[in-house]
Amino acid sequence: MREYIVKADKLKKVYSSESQKIIALKEIDIEIKKGEFVTIMGPSGAGKTTFLNLVGCLDRPTSGKLDILGCDPTKFNEEKLSRIRVEKIGFIFEDFFLISFLNALENVQLPLIFARNYKNNNRPRDLLKRVGLDHRLTHFPNELSGGELQRVAVARALANNPEILLADEPTGNLDSRNAQELFNLFRDLNREKGLTIVVATHNIRLGYSADRVIHLNDGKMEKDERLAK
Ligand SMILES: Nc1ncnc2c1ncn2[C@@H]1O[C@H](COP(=O)(O)OP(=O)(O)OP(=O)(O)O)[C@@H](O)[C@H]1O
Ligand SMILES: [Mg+2]
Repeated sequence: MREYIVKADKLKKVYSSESQKIIALKEIDIEIKKGEFVTIMGPSGAGKTTFLNLVGCLDRPTSGKLDILGCDPTKFNEEKLSRIRVEKIGFIFEDFFLISFLNALENVQLPLIFARNYKNNNRPRDLLKRVGLDHRLTHFPNELSGGELQRVAVARALANNPEILLADEPTGNLDSRNAQELFNLFRDLNREKGLTIVVATHNIRLGYSADRVIHLNDGKMEKDERLAK
């Protein structure tokens, strides 16, 4: 079995426009093992979102090697990349990005439809139950609280049973109680299912509730802290 879910070797990302070049990641080496719960911390502009987008196959590196789930995404065309995204990776964003005209259950069913995964009919309902929302299945996004919206987004990210869950500042729009509850949910999913989780956060207290904190600064890895539990 593969030990590593993510292996980045001299990973570099340059955003180029006519007037300037921004080196967002400066040849970083990061390995993330199966079953790890990792947070990425660092000041604004450090490269956290850039790193998550590369790992999530939402963007391509400028140079360096990247191995995600044993695949080299730089060798894939758009169609294959989107298949990996849908089938193997769960992504959660700060702004939830739920579809406003679909109810909670339909939002969670959507990734199954994209993946043509019709066998798991009960999974969306089970997942919403798992995140404590079985009483809100038919509510539309505008009928849900911020904490509930983010839990629907977690259920949606898990719909296709991904091998890795990525979250970019998922607590930015939540109050401290809902933020803590979201991290408790991450911790439980990590312990129950051995789900590999990588979360970018500015919240120091929550960041340090993970097993490992990777500190990025100015596109470089400044510190890699493994926390004793
Ligand atoms: N699409 C883009 N085009 C050009 N520059 C970009 C782009 N995305 C990010 N950058 C730049 O790359 C650097 C890293 O940005 P990134 O979004 O990865 O930082 P971050 O650590 O996620 O910051 P924050 O905590 O504010 O979300 C920043 O200097 C940013 O301005
Ligand atoms: Mg960011």
